[in-house]
Amino acid sequence: MRATVDRAGLDPQGRLPKVQIRRVRKGDLSKVRDVMEQTFGDFLERQLGTRPRQAFGGAQYVHHRWLMEPWGCFVAEEDSSKIVGAALAVTWGTVGVLGPVAVLTNYHNQTIGQQLIRAAQDFFDENKATLHGCVTYPTSPKHLYLYHKFGYRPKHLTAVMSRTIDRGGARVPASPKPGKTPLTARRFSTLEEAKKKAALARIHRITNAICRGMDLAKEIEIVDGLALGDTVLLERGRDLIGFAICHTPGVSEAPAGALYVKFLAIDPPHRKAEHLEQFVATIEGFGQELGVQRVILPVYARYWTAYNILVQCGYQIDFTMVRMQRGKPEDYEDPADLVLDDWR
Ligand SMILES: CC(C)(COP(=O)(O)OP(=O)(O)OC[C@H]1O[C@@H](n2cnc3c(N)ncnc32)[C@H](O)[C@@H]1OP(=O)(O)O)[C@@H](O)C(=O)NCCC(=O)NCCS
Repeated sequence: MRATVDRAGLDPQGRLPKVQIRRVRKGDLSKVRDVMEQTFGDFLERQLGTRPRQAFGGAQYVHHRWLMEPWGCFVAEEDSSKIVGAALAVTWGTVGVLGPVAVLTNYHNQTIGQQLIRAAQDFFDENKATLHGCVTYPTSPKHLYLYHKFGYRPKHLTAVMSRTIDRGGARVPASPKPGKTPLTARRFSTLEEAKKKAALARIHRITNAICRGMDLAKEIEIVDGLALGDTVLLERGRDLIGFAICHTPGVSEAPAGALYVKFLAIDPPHRKAEHLEQFVATIEGFGQELGVQRVILPVYARYWTAYNILVQCGYQIDFTMVRMQRGKPEDYEDPADLVLDDWR
C-alpha cells in the first residue's frame, strides 16, 4: 500500500484525480492567470535554464479574452475545487485561434491538455470556424505530437520582432510626394459611435480580402472598450489604407515598456512597401508619445514581403514560434500581402 502521495495529481490511493472541463467563470479569472503564469514559468525555466520573473513579461491574456469570448475559455478542474489547466480560444469570424493552453506541470501527460483542446475545437465547430490555428514551440516533440493528434499541421514560423524606440530611435514618416494626398493616421477611440461601426465594416472588408470570412471586430472593440491600447487607422483622403490593433502596457497583451501590435493589415489593393514603412513609423511615433521603449511587431514568415520590410526597418527577432493550422482555407496567405498577425 502507498504510504504517501509520491506525485501531485495522484490521490493517496494512486488513482488519477477526477478532472472536469468546464467554461471559465468570472470568479476563476485570477486563478486561471496564476495557472498560466506558473505553467509557462516552469516550461520556460526548463527551456532557458533560468526562471523568468514573469512568464509573459507583464503581458496579460486572461481577463480581456474572457470578456471578449467567454464561451471560448475553458478550465480543467480537479475534484470540483482546484483549477489545474486552462485553454483560451477566440473566433475571428471563420478563423478560430487557440491559445494559450496550459496544464500545471504536475498534471502533465494525463490527457488534460487534450480534453481542453477538444473543448476549444467543439467551440470552433459550434461557431462555424473553418480554419483553426495556434502557435507552438517548433523544437518540442510533445507539442507537435499533441497538435498533430487534432489534425494541426506545422506551417511557417512566426517571428516576434521588436525595435528600440527610446533614445530618439523612432523613424519619422516620409513626407508625401508633391501633389499626392498625404497618408494620415486616426485613432479608432476618437471616432463617434456611429463612425466606429462604419470603420469596423471597412476593416472587415480588408480582412475578408486577406482571408475570406476573417473578422477582427471583437479584438478592436475589446481594445477600445477596455482601453487596452487603440486601433490606428491609416488613411489617404477618404480611403482606409490599413489598420493596426495596438496594445499598450498595463492590463493588455503588451509586455511592460512595449507597444505591441496584435494585428496589422494593409488593404491588398494598396499593398505598397512604402505604406507599411510609413505605418510602422506612425506606430513608433505613437509609442514615443506613450513613453514606451520598444515596439513589438509579430510577423508570419509566409508574409515574406512584410518580413523583409520589417528587417529593413531595423526590427530584430526576439523569438520564433511555429504556426499550426487545420481546416480550410489551407494556405490562404498571399506572400505579398502586408499583414502582421499574432496567433498567440
Ligand atoms: C502542452 C500542454 C498543455 C499539454 O498538456 P498535457 O495535459 O500534458 O497533454 P496531454 O496529456 O493531453 O497530451 C500529451 C501527449 O503528448 C505525449 N507526449 C508527452 N511527451 C512527449 C514527447 N516527448 N514526444 C512525443 N509525445 C509526447 C503524451 O504521451 C500525450 O499523448 P497520448 O495521450 O497520446 O499518450 C502542457 O504540456 C503544458 O501546459 N505545457 C506548458 C505550456 C505550453 O507549452 N502550452 C502550450 C503552448 S502552445
